[in-house]
Amino acid sequence: MPVDFRRERAWWDAKAPNEEVDFLDEAVNRALRWREIARRLGGVASILEVGGATGAFSIPLARRGYAVTHVDFSPAMLDSARAKAGDAGGLRFVQANAVALPFPDRAFDLVLNMDGAVSFCGEMAEQAIREACRVTGRMLILSVSHRASLIAGWVEQSAKVCGRLLPAVYAMFDRGAWRQDQFPDNLHFSKGGTQDYLGVHKAFLPGELRALLEGAGMRVLRCGGLGTLANLCGMDAVEALRADADAYTAFLDLCERYDLEILPDGPGTWRRAGLIAVATLGGAGAPQNH
Ligand SMILES: C[S@@+](CC[C@H](N)C(=O)[O-])C[C@H]1O[C@@H](n2cnc3c(N)ncnc32)[C@H](O)[C@@H]1O
Repeated sequence: MPVDFRRERAWWDAKAPNEEVDFLDEAVNRALRWREIARRLGGVASILEVGGATGAFSIPLARRGYAVTHVDFSPAMLDSARAKAGDAGGLRFVQANAVALPFPDRAFDLVLNMDGAVSFCGEMAEQAIREACRVTGRMLILSVSHRASLIAGWVEQSAKVCGRLLPAVYAMFDRGAWRQDQFPDNLHFSKGGTQDYLGVHKAFLPGELRALLEGAGMRVLRCGGLGTLANLCGMDAVEALRADADAYTAFLDLCERYDLEILPDGPGTWRRAGLIAVATLGGAGAPQNH
Protein backbone atom coordinates (compact mmCIF):
# COMPACT_ATOMS: atom_id res chain seq x y z
CA MET A 1 0.00 0.00 0.00
CA PRO A 2 1.51 3.40 -0.92
CA VAL A 3 2.61 5.70 1.90
CA ASP A 4 0.37 8.76 2.26
CA PHE A 5 3.15 11.32 2.66
CA ARG A 6 0.64 14.19 2.98
CA ARG A 7 -0.65 12.54 6.17
CA GLU A 8 2.88 11.96 7.43
CA ARG A 9 3.91 15.56 6.70
CA ALA A 10 0.93 16.95 8.61
CA TRP A 11 1.91 14.83 11.61
CA TRP A 12 5.51 16.07 11.55
CA ASP A 13 4.31 19.66 11.13
CA ALA A 14 2.37 19.26 14.38
CA LYS A 15 5.44 17.85 16.12
CA ALA A 16 7.76 20.70 15.14
CA PRO A 17 7.40 22.81 18.34
CA ASN A 18 8.74 19.96 20.52
CA GLU A 19 11.31 18.50 18.15
CA GLU A 20 14.35 19.37 20.23
CA VAL A 21 12.92 18.57 23.65
CA ASP A 22 15.01 15.58 24.73
CA PHE A 23 13.39 13.17 27.21
CA LEU A 24 15.10 10.35 29.08
CA ASP A 25 17.85 8.78 26.93
CA GLU A 26 17.25 11.03 23.91
CA ALA A 27 20.04 13.40 24.91
CA VAL A 28 22.46 10.48 25.16
CA ASN A 29 21.49 9.33 21.68
CA ARG A 30 22.02 12.85 20.32
CA ALA A 31 25.39 13.27 22.09
CA LEU A 32 26.64 9.92 20.79
CA ARG A 33 25.65 10.90 17.25
CA TRP A 34 27.60 14.15 17.59
CA ARG A 35 30.64 12.13 18.61
CA GLU A 36 30.24 9.85 15.60
CA ILE A 37 29.86 12.82 13.24
CA ALA A 38 32.94 14.52 14.71
CA ARG A 39 35.01 11.42 13.89
CA ARG A 40 33.89 11.48 10.24
CA LEU A 41 34.50 15.10 9.25
CA GLY A 42 38.02 14.67 7.88
CA GLY A 43 38.17 15.79 4.24
CA VAL A 44 34.52 16.88 4.28
CA ALA A 45 33.41 20.19 2.74
CA SER A 46 29.77 19.60 1.74
CA ILE A 47 27.12 18.00 3.95
CA LEU A 48 23.54 16.95 3.24
CA GLU A 49 21.23 16.39 6.17
CA VAL A 50 18.02 14.57 5.23
CA GLY A 51 15.22 15.05 7.76
CA GLY A 52 17.12 17.95 9.31
CA ALA A 53 13.99 19.08 11.21
CA THR A 54 14.63 22.22 13.25
CA GLY A 55 18.37 22.26 12.56
CA ALA A 56 19.86 20.68 15.70
CA PHE A 57 22.71 19.31 13.59
CA SER A 58 22.63 21.30 10.36
CA ILE A 59 22.89 24.76 11.94
CA PRO A 60 25.93 24.08 14.18
CA LEU A 61 27.66 22.34 11.27
CA ALA A 62 27.04 25.33 8.98
CA ARG A 63 28.35 27.64 11.70
CA ARG A 64 31.54 25.57 11.72
CA GLY A 65 32.08 26.40 8.05
CA TYR A 66 30.65 23.38 6.20
CA ALA A 67 28.43 23.93 3.17
CA VAL A 68 25.25 22.32 4.51
CA THR A 69 22.08 21.44 2.62
CA HIS A 70 19.19 20.84 4.99
CA VAL A 71 16.31 18.78 3.56
CA ASP A 72 12.97 18.16 5.19
CA PHE A 73 9.47 17.56 3.84
CA SER A 74 7.75 19.39 6.70
CA PRO A 75 7.17 23.12 6.12
CA ALA A 76 6.82 23.73 9.88
CA MET A 77 10.17 22.08 10.62
CA LEU A 78 11.81 24.11 7.85
CA ASP A 79 10.27 27.38 9.05
CA SER A 80 11.53 26.75 12.55
CA ALA A 81 15.04 25.86 11.28
CA ARG A 82 15.18 29.01 9.11
CA ALA A 83 14.20 31.18 12.09
CA LYS A 84 16.85 29.55 14.29
CA ALA A 85 19.58 29.70 11.67
CA GLY A 86 19.46 33.49 11.46
CA ASP A 87 22.52 34.63 9.58
CA ALA A 88 24.35 31.26 9.59
CA GLY A 89 26.10 31.25 6.21
CA GLY A 90 26.63 28.16 4.06
CA LEU A 91 23.21 26.73 4.90
CA ARG A 92 20.66 25.96 2.18
CA PHE A 93 17.14 24.73 2.90
CA VAL A 94 15.30 22.41 0.50
CA GLN A 95 11.82 21.00 0.91
CA ALA A 96 11.95 17.45 -0.46
CA ASN A 97 11.06 13.87 0.32
CA ALA A 98 13.78 11.47 1.49
CA VAL A 99 12.54 8.86 -0.98
CA ALA A 100 13.22 11.10 -4.02
CA LEU A 101 16.10 13.47 -3.32
CA PRO A 102 16.47 16.22 -5.96
CA PHE A 103 20.27 15.94 -6.22
CA PRO A 104 22.70 14.25 -8.60
CA ASP A 105 24.60 11.08 -7.71
CA ARG A 106 27.55 11.54 -5.29
CA ALA A 107 26.65 15.22 -4.75
CA PHE A 108 27.75 15.51 -1.07
CA ASP A 109 30.90 14.51 0.83
CA LEU A 110 28.93 13.57 3.94
CA VAL A 111 25.27 12.56 4.06
CA LEU A 112 23.35 12.40 7.35
CA ASN A 113 19.92 10.81 7.55
CA MET A 114 19.26 10.33 11.23
CA ASP A 115 16.32 9.59 13.43
CA GLY A 116 13.23 9.72 11.31
CA ALA A 117 13.54 10.28 7.59
CA VAL A 118 14.29 6.60 6.95
CA SER A 119 12.18 4.70 9.48
CA PHE A 120 9.15 6.99 9.13
CA CYS A 121 9.00 6.27 5.41
CA GLY A 122 7.37 2.93 6.36
CA GLU A 123 7.23 0.60 3.37
CA MET A 124 9.42 3.06 1.45
CA ALA A 125 12.23 3.11 4.03
CA GLU A 126 14.51 1.02 1.83
CA GLN A 127 14.04 3.52 -0.98
CA ALA A 128 15.09 6.32 1.41
CA ILE A 129 18.25 4.34 2.24
CA ARG A 130 19.03 3.84 -1.46
CA GLU A 131 18.56 7.56 -2.08
CA ALA A 132 20.90 8.49 0.77
CA CYS A 133 23.53 6.10 -0.65
CA ARG A 134 23.10 7.45 -4.17
CA VAL A 135 23.90 11.07 -3.24
CA THR A 136 26.80 10.14 -0.93
CA GLY A 137 30.19 11.14 -2.32
CA ARG A 138 32.28 9.88 0.57
CA MET A 139 30.62 9.08 3.90
CA LEU A 140 27.11 8.26 5.10
CA ILE A 141 25.71 8.22 8.63
CA LEU A 142 22.23 6.76 9.11
CA SER A 143 20.25 6.14 12.24
CA VAL A 144 17.06 4.11 12.11
CA SER A 145 14.68 2.43 14.53
CA HIS A 146 15.99 -0.78 16.05
CA ARG A 147 13.51 -3.63 15.74
CA ALA A 148 14.67 -5.27 18.99
CA SER A 149 13.85 -2.13 20.93
CA LEU A 150 10.50 -1.52 19.25
CA ILE A 151 9.33 -5.09 19.82
CA ALA A 152 9.86 -4.58 23.55
CA GLY A 153 8.12 -1.20 23.39
CA TRP A 154 5.14 -2.63 21.50
CA VAL A 155 4.82 -5.48 24.04
CA GLU A 156 4.88 -2.97 26.90
CA GLN A 157 2.25 -0.77 25.24
CA SER A 158 0.11 -3.73 24.31
CA ALA A 159 0.18 -5.16 27.82
CA LYS A 160 -0.59 -1.76 29.33
CA VAL A 161 -3.63 -1.01 27.17
CA CYS A 162 -5.31 -4.42 27.17
CA GLY A 163 -3.24 -7.02 29.00
CA ARG A 164 -2.58 -9.20 25.96
CA LEU A 165 -0.39 -9.17 22.86
CA LEU A 166 -2.03 -7.21 20.06
CA PRO A 167 -1.43 -8.02 16.36
CA ALA A 168 0.85 -4.98 16.02
CA VAL A 169 3.41 -6.75 18.24
CA TYR A 170 3.70 -9.57 15.71
CA ALA A 171 3.88 -7.21 12.74
CA MET A 172 6.80 -5.46 14.43
CA PHE A 173 8.38 -8.78 15.47
CA ASP A 174 8.08 -10.44 12.05
CA ARG A 175 8.57 -7.53 9.64
CA GLY A 176 9.57 -4.45 11.62
CA ALA A 177 6.41 -2.87 10.27
CA TRP A 178 3.87 -0.46 11.73
CA ARG A 179 1.04 1.44 10.17
CA GLN A 180 -1.88 2.80 12.07
CA ASP A 181 -4.55 1.47 9.71
CA GLN A 182 -3.06 -2.05 9.72
CA PHE A 183 -5.28 -3.38 12.56
CA PRO A 184 -8.24 -1.77 14.39
CA ASP A 185 -6.49 -2.29 17.74
CA ASN A 186 -3.58 -0.07 16.63
CA LEU A 187 -5.55 2.97 17.77
CA HIS A 188 -4.69 1.92 21.34
CA PHE A 189 -1.01 2.63 20.61
CA SER A 190 -1.37 6.13 19.26
CA LYS A 191 -4.17 7.52 21.44
CA GLY A 192 -2.95 10.55 23.35
CA GLY A 193 0.02 11.13 21.03
CA THR A 194 0.31 13.97 18.52
CA GLN A 195 -2.97 14.02 16.54
CA ASP A 196 -3.78 10.59 18.06
CA TYR A 197 -1.54 9.24 15.35
CA LEU A 198 1.75 7.37 15.06
CA GLY A 199 3.49 7.62 11.69
CA VAL A 200 4.18 4.71 9.37
CA HIS A 201 7.27 2.91 10.53
CA LYS A 202 9.93 0.46 9.49
CA ALA A 203 12.41 -0.84 12.07
CA PHE A 204 15.52 -2.81 11.19
CA LEU A 205 17.94 -5.33 12.65
CA PRO A 206 21.67 -4.61 12.20
CA GLY A 207 22.14 -7.44 9.68
CA GLU A 208 19.27 -6.16 7.52
CA LEU A 209 20.60 -2.62 7.47
CA ARG A 210 24.13 -3.78 6.70
CA ALA A 211 22.87 -5.89 3.76
CA LEU A 212 20.89 -2.96 2.34
CA LEU A 213 23.92 -0.66 2.51
CA GLU A 214 26.21 -3.25 0.95
CA GLY A 215 23.60 -3.89 -1.74
CA ALA A 216 23.76 -0.18 -2.57
CA GLY A 217 27.53 -0.43 -3.06
CA MET A 218 28.65 0.96 0.31
CA ARG A 219 31.39 -0.34 2.59
CA VAL A 220 30.03 -0.53 6.14
CA LEU A 221 32.36 0.75 8.86
CA ARG A 222 29.92 0.45 11.72
CA CYS A 223 26.40 -0.95 12.03
CA GLY A 224 24.84 -1.60 15.41
CA GLY A 225 23.26 -0.25 18.54
CA LEU A 226 23.69 3.34 19.70
CA GLY A 227 23.52 4.01 23.43
CA THR A 228 22.39 0.56 24.59
CA LEU A 229 23.85 1.13 28.05
CA ALA A 230 21.61 4.18 28.54
CA ASN A 231 18.60 2.00 27.76
CA LEU A 232 19.60 -0.86 30.05
CA CYS A 233 20.87 1.05 33.09
CA GLY A 234 17.51 2.73 33.66
CA MET A 235 16.34 6.27 33.07
CA ASP A 236 16.85 7.39 36.69
CA ALA A 237 20.57 6.68 36.35
CA VAL A 238 20.70 8.58 33.04
CA GLU A 239 18.98 11.61 34.58
CA ALA A 240 21.28 11.60 37.63
CA LEU A 241 24.43 11.38 35.50
CA ARG A 242 23.25 14.13 33.15
CA ALA A 243 23.16 16.52 36.11
CA ASP A 244 26.97 16.54 36.48
CA ALA A 245 29.10 17.48 33.45
CA ASP A 246 32.11 15.32 34.32
CA ALA A 247 30.01 12.33 35.30
CA TYR A 248 28.04 12.70 32.06
CA THR A 249 31.19 12.77 29.92
CA ALA A 250 32.45 9.63 31.68
CA PHE A 251 29.05 8.01 31.11
CA LEU A 252 29.09 8.84 27.39
CA ASP A 253 32.60 7.37 27.15
CA LEU A 254 31.31 4.19 28.77
CA CYS A 255 28.26 4.11 26.46
CA GLU A 256 30.59 4.18 23.46
CA ARG A 257 32.69 1.37 24.86
CA TYR A 258 29.56 -0.65 25.68
CA ASP A 259 28.34 -0.32 22.07
CA LEU A 260 31.69 -1.44 20.73
CA GLU A 261 32.79 -4.04 23.28
CA ILE A 262 29.78 -5.44 25.12
CA LEU A 263 26.60 -5.43 22.99
CA PRO A 264 27.49 -4.20 19.49
CA ASP A 265 24.16 -5.26 17.99
CA GLY A 266 22.09 -3.13 20.32
CA PRO A 267 19.18 -2.57 21.01
CA GLY A 268 20.41 1.03 21.37
CA THR A 269 18.58 3.78 23.22
CA TRP A 270 14.90 3.42 23.99
CA ARG A 271 14.01 6.83 22.57
CA ARG A 272 15.28 8.20 19.25
CA ALA A 273 16.60 5.80 16.62
CA GLY A 274 18.78 3.19 18.34
CA LEU A 275 20.48 1.62 15.32
CA ILE A 276 23.33 3.51 13.67
CA ALA A 277 25.29 2.79 10.52
CA VAL A 278 28.36 4.50 9.13
CA ALA A 279 29.34 3.63 5.59
CA THR A 280 31.72 4.84 2.94
CA LEU A 281 32.06 4.37 -0.78
CA GLY A 282 35.27 2.51 0.01
CA GLY A 283 38.28 2.26 -2.31
CA ALA A 284 41.85 3.26 -1.72
CA GLY A 285 42.40 5.77 1.06
CA ALA A 286 38.91 5.28 2.50
CA PRO A 287 38.70 6.15 6.20
CA GLN A 288 39.06 3.26 8.65
CA ASN A 289 36.64 2.41 11.43
CA HIS A 290 37.47 3.68 14.93
C1 LIG B 1 12.74 13.16 14.67
S1 LIG B 1 13.15 14.35 13.45
C2 LIG B 1 14.91 14.15 13.38
C3 LIG B 1 15.67 15.44 13.28
C4 LIG B 1 17.17 15.34 13.17
N1 LIG B 1 17.59 14.56 12.01
C5 LIG B 1 17.77 14.75 14.42
O1 LIG B 1 18.32 13.67 14.35
O2 LIG B 1 17.69 15.38 15.47
C6 LIG B 1 12.67 13.60 11.93
C7 LIG B 1 12.57 14.57 10.79
O3 LIG B 1 12.45 13.82 9.58
C8 LIG B 1 11.50 14.48 8.75
N2 LIG B 1 10.98 13.49 7.80
C9 LIG B 1 10.24 12.38 8.09
N3 LIG B 1 9.96 11.73 6.96
C10 LIG B 1 10.52 12.42 5.93
C11 LIG B 1 10.57 12.23 4.54
N4 LIG B 1 9.96 11.19 3.94
N5 LIG B 1 11.25 13.12 3.80
C12 LIG B 1 11.85 14.20 4.37
N6 LIG B 1 11.82 14.44 5.70
C13 LIG B 1 11.16 13.54 6.47
C14 LIG B 1 10.46 15.02 9.70
O4 LIG B 1 9.72 16.07 9.13
C15 LIG B 1 11.34 15.48 10.86
O5 LIG B 1 11.71 16.81 10.70
